[in-house]
Amino acid sequence: MKKNNITRRRFLGAASAGAAVAIASKRVNALEIISKKTDKLAILGGTPVRTEPFPSWPIIDETDEKSVLSALRSRIWSRGKMVAAVEKRFAGFVGARYCLLTGSGTQALNTALHVLGITGGDEVLVTPYTFVATVDAILLEDALPVFVDIDPETFQINPDKLEERITENTRAILPVHINGGVANMDKINSIAKKYDLKVVEDACQAILAEWRGKKAGTLGDLGCLSFQTTKNLTCGEGGAILGDDEEVIDRCYSFHNFGRPKGKYMPRDKGGHPILGTKYRISTLHAALLNSQMDRVEEQTGKRSENADYLTARIKEIPGIIPRKNYKETTRTAYYKYALRYEKEHFDDVPRDKFIVAMRAEGIPCSWGLGVLEGPPINREGLIEEALNSHIFRRIYSQERLKKYREQNQCPESDQLSKEVMGFSGELLLGEKKDMDDIADAIFKIYENKDKLG
Ligand SMILES: Cc1ncc(COP(=O)(O)O)c(C=O)c1O
Repeated sequence: MKKNNITRRRFLGAASAGAAVAIASKRVNALEIISKKTDKLAILGGTPVRTEPFPSWPIIDETDEKSVLSALRSRIWSRGKMVAAVEKRFAGFVGARYCLLTGSGTQALNTALHVLGITGGDEVLVTPYTFVATVDAILLEDALPVFVDIDPETFQINPDKLEERITENTRAILPVHINGGVANMDKINSIAKKYDLKVVEDACQAILAEWRGKKAGTLGDLGCLSFQTTKNLTCGEGGAILGDDEEVIDRCYSFHNFGRPKGKYMPRDKGGHPILGTKYRISTLHAALLNSQMDRVEEQTGKRSENADYLTARIKEIPGIIPRKNYKETTRTAYYKYALRYEKEHFDDVPRDKFIVAMRAEGIPCSWGLGVLEGPPINREGLIEEALNSHIFRRIYSQERLKKYREQNQCPESDQLSKEVMGFSGELLLGEKKDMDDIADAIFKIYENKDKLG
């Protein structure tokens, strides 16, 4: 993905050709870029591109205060009737038949896999470019997470590599719609159908993202969402399971509520706890906050998308800066994070960490973790070996099977991405075009002065 060197003129030309938006403001901006280019880098004592803060997250107003106060005054703080009303509203909001709210996205994933019968000896196909909770959920069922490498352009699980990892033990595919994009659900669903596999979507980072007009989380057997503080729709801590099968959702309900009977499919003559369960319930206080936050997520998602498209048009021609792409069927991106690949060879080998520090000095918050990485890619994290060496795994899986698993646990594209990925938190996209110009200008300023970062 090498690109030729770019001139300032070409950068400006590309910027205005890339989007027909805000041409006038871009001209003004072009002048700014020219003057900024000659500026000393802020990390070397020069003037930063930006000094004002970006929008902060989460956003609250008096509707949130009213909603939470009313729940507080109701004195029903644990799960009450109001939660069912929010579930109904949310299901309608995203076009799912049913929604079950949970205490977190992690709990939603645990419940979904458990209820679909994933258990010891089973294999679940999953991407290595995901937050740890996705993989925890598989390991907690004593199943094996079988890592399928990523598509280097979209950063999603590579659908063309799924079939080669299917064995007689494969039971499910767990696509993660990472960074607010959507995995290739056409290919994933068709492979699942061919091999009779369940599909559980991890849509925790992709609330309101769409594939061919259908919302992420409503495209497989079950979809899991997170409303943790950083997420595009938040109530502090919360999650949801989306599904169309009443019996499966009733079982999820039962599991998340100590195994108590629920719905017409659950036996009524087997006591108060006919199935194993746990407590993964959302509280009324959290559901109340979710309800008020839901009022503005649609508009915010539109804003994120609009600004992200503008930013992409501004930066995509800078050599070594490669924004994450979306499949053409992705009719909407959630932009939980704006992710891009930083190829240091185009920046005189300035390491990613140094580039990030230089960006921060210019007043642009950025990082490489992006709600995914906290160390090596997840297939290389310590928890995998810890699980493989555990008593239960050694009882369930033969030495030969574990040896083969270790040998096959290779995802070179994901390894490479983990060295190059970086980007911005989604709330940076909630401001104005000028904010995007600042981000683009800072990247370009560093690009032009890269030799001085030595
Ligand atoms: C991809 C992904 N899966 C699962 C989760 C877990 O969600 P929660 O933090 O609500 O448990 C997260 C949250 O960060 C996530 O990003």
